Order: sequence, then C-alpha cells, then structure tokens
Amino acid sequence: MTKWSPNSWRAKPIQQVPSYPDMAVLEETEARLATFPPLVFAGEARKLKKQLASVANGEAFLLQGGDCAESFAEHGADNIRDFFRVFLQMSVVLTYAGAQPVVKVGRIAGQFAKPRSSDIEAKGDVSLPSYRGDIINGIEFDEKSRIPDPARQEMAYRQSAATLNLLRAFAQGGYASLENVHKWMLGFVADSPQAAKYEALANRITETMDFMRAVGITSESNYALRETDFYTSHEALLLGYEQALTRVDSTSGDWYATSGHMIWIGDRTRQPDHAHIEYCRGIKNPLGLKCGPSLTPDGLIELCDLLNPENEAGRLTLIARFGADKVGDHLPKLVRAVEKEGRKVVWSCDPMHGNTVTAAGYKTRPFDRILKEVQSFFEVHRAEGTYPGGIHVEMTGKNVTECTGGARAIRDDELQDRYHTHCDPRLNAEQAVELAFLVSELLKKAETPQQKKAVNG
Ligand code: PEP
Ligand code: CO
Repeated sequence: MTKWSPNSWRAKPIQQVPSYPDMAVLEETEARLATFPPLVFAGEARKLKKQLASVANGEAFLLQGGDCAESFAEHGADNIRDFFRVFLQMSVVLTYAGAQPVVKVGRIAGQFAKPRSSDIEAKGDVSLPSYRGDIINGIEFDEKSRIPDPARQEMAYRQSAATLNLLRAFAQGGYASLENVHKWMLGFVADSPQAAKYEALANRITETMDFMRAVGITSESNYALRETDFYTSHEALLLGYEQALTRVDSTSGDWYATSGHMIWIGDRTRQPDHAHIEYCRGIKNPLGLKCGPSLTPDGLIELCDLLNPENEAGRLTLIARFGADKVGDHLPKLVRAVEKEGRKVVWSCDPMHGNTVTAAGYKTRPFDRILKEVQSFFEVHRAEGTYPGGIHVEMTGKNVTECTGGARAIRDDELQDRYHTHCDPRLNAEQAVELAFLVSELLKKAETPQQKKAVNG
C-alpha cells in the first residue's frame, strides 16, 4: 500500500466533488484554514474511541444524531440549545432502560457538506447544479447561489467553533445536570398525546432520582450528575477542508482530523480504492462507515482491513442504513462476515436514510418505518448473538413537520406547515424523544454480553 499523508487522497479517484470556478481561490482558502486553531483535540478523540470500545464490548450504547445538514441561516443559540435538550432527554431514557452509559455524539458543529444523488437539480425547464451543503454553495434555486464558493468553508469553520463553544458550556456548566434533563423529560411526557405509554418509565426514573437525592447523591455533590461528555461528528466529505484541519498530535505523533471528534464515510463515497477511504484510513479518530444495500460481506471486510487494520475496538462504527424492508435481508450477512473474521466493531442503526419517500411533494420519512428499521436491527442482532450498539438519527429540537406519523400523527398534508430542513427530513423534538422511549423497550429486552455473563457465570 502506498504511504499515507494528509494529502495522499488527492492522487485517488474521487466522488462528489464540487466544481469550484477558481482553483487558486480554493487553494488560498485551504492554506488559510490550515493555519486556524483545531476545533477539537486529539485527547478528546481518543477518549471517545475508548467509550466506543465499551460499546463494541456491549457495555454502553451509542446515541448519534442531529441535523442532516447544518445551515448558516439557522445558526443560533436557541437551535443549539433545543437540540441539546432533546438529545439529552433521549440519552437519559436510553441510559435508564439499558442500565449502562450512553455515548453521546452529535451530528453537529461541522455537519455541512452533503453528497447528492444527482449533480443537477431541475425545476421546470431550469437546470442548476445541485445544492451540496452550506459549506459549498447556497440552497436558493438561482445560478449565483449554486456556484461553489470557497469563502463558505471559513464560515463553516467559524460556525462550528461557535457551536462547539456553546455545547461545551452547556455540557460542563451545569445546564446538562441530570435534574434538569429529568425535568425536561417529564415535560415531554406530560405534553405527549401518548403520555400514558411513557409514564411508567418516567415514574421509575423519578423514583430513582428521589432515592439518590435521599442518600445525598445530587448534582452539587457529584460531578457526573452535573456534567456530561458530549462529542461532535460529521461526514468527512469535503476532503480539502478536512485536510486543512488535519494535524499531528504532539503527544503521540499521530495524525488527527480536528474538524470533529468522530467523522464518518458516506454510503456514496466508500469505494475502497477512492479518495475518501484513503483520507480516513490515515487519521486516528474514531470512524463511522455507512453500510447501505450495495455493500457486500467481502466488500465490508475489505473496508475493515483498510480502516481498522489493527482491529482496535472503538475505531470503527458500522452504521447500517438499509430501509425497514431491506434490513432483514442485508444485515445478517454483514454481521456474520464480521463475526467470522473476528472484527471488533460497533453496530449502529441509521433508520433514516433507507426510509425516505415522497408525499405531497415533500421528501419525508414515516415514523413507523423508522421504528420498524430499528426493531428489525435489534431482531437481527438478537438472532445472531451480537450486540445492537447504537442508533444514528436525523433530528432537531424544534417542532418541525418533516417526518410523518409519531404520537401526534403528522399527516402528509401537514408537511408544508413547518418543513425547514436544508436536506433530509428530521425527527422533530417530540418524535425524537418518542423514538428513544420506544427504543428503550428494545434495550430492556436485548441482553448485553455483560448481562449474559452475569447470568451464565
Ligand atoms: C447522511 O447521513 O446525511 C447521508 C447522506 O447518509 P448516507 O451516506 O448513508 O446516504
Ligand atoms: Co441525511
């Protein structure tokens, strides 16, 4: 294999590249970005990798989620706060049900570049280059907006820094205390049309909190109740940007992507001999790999060899995204190949990207299909004796109408009310917490390898 360097991907074939009109301006931008401070530190990425290793061992659960695409227009404290609140509510429900830690990874503070099925978007008889995410071009359907602009990369970098700054303050400044999250969760249950369904679990959490308080375990006395670890992630699609933020860690001498703690490879850019795999194999961050219907068992093992040659637990998270109808056909073969070869991976379920349909002229995802894919994912792992390690969802803290169904039964004709996404349809705040409650029922049923050991000695 050829020697890796932060720019060795440039010699490989590549998919999903924007056509910048002026390459000199692009190069200047990348050179400037390369002088900017890192957004995250290598030590944090290593800590996340360790936590993901516990997930791979069946001792923790991964919750990964956030916008399909962050946008410049929606950058504000309220959006970040509302997302974070909902994310923590999901995580407290999952922690309690699974009786194990939840590793929290946002699709945030860097999730700007989007792979597209087509290079061209046509409306009537006008055809323009597709929107590729705010880090590349503008979403407005006019010629000027759709021209890729390198200056957007600096905007994305600065927005990521500001977002991360607020998230760090929320995570460590007391806002994310278990008492607060519990209060928000009770608010969700009280407002839900399906309150009765969620009350039992909510009441058990309340009793546990009361007990802890009675014996003196409060957020004042215990930092674990006051603070939380929260990590960032995004798809490593725009490799010039990623390269500019790739830095040597002075303590280990290893290369790290410092654009986010974890980065993943999309389903459209995972060709083993192409640029995205080349870039990702050389950095030491935890990696995600989207696994869609076209991935074969041999293809997956080849990618495991490239991305995780030392078979390090926590390095590689396989994110299954087949669609509710396909997961039962595709996932078992991949799980068996990974087991047969003894690969240590985290299996996570993205129930969003295989379940997109069009209704009333909008791209949407029915809530029951999303739930069904997660259920099938758990069933496959139970049948194979492997561990369903996490979920990966597109969600927002706002009350949007992008996915149909859920407790409030959003209808096709209501999608137009608050359809705000810059790319794929997201679960709204209620749907996201609801999904966590429903997944918690699956977690209670799924025996972790640890629990199995405890029972069998
Ligand atoms: C995404 O996660 O937004 C995405 C484009 O996913 P995939 O690569 O799985 O299609
Ligand atoms: Co998406």
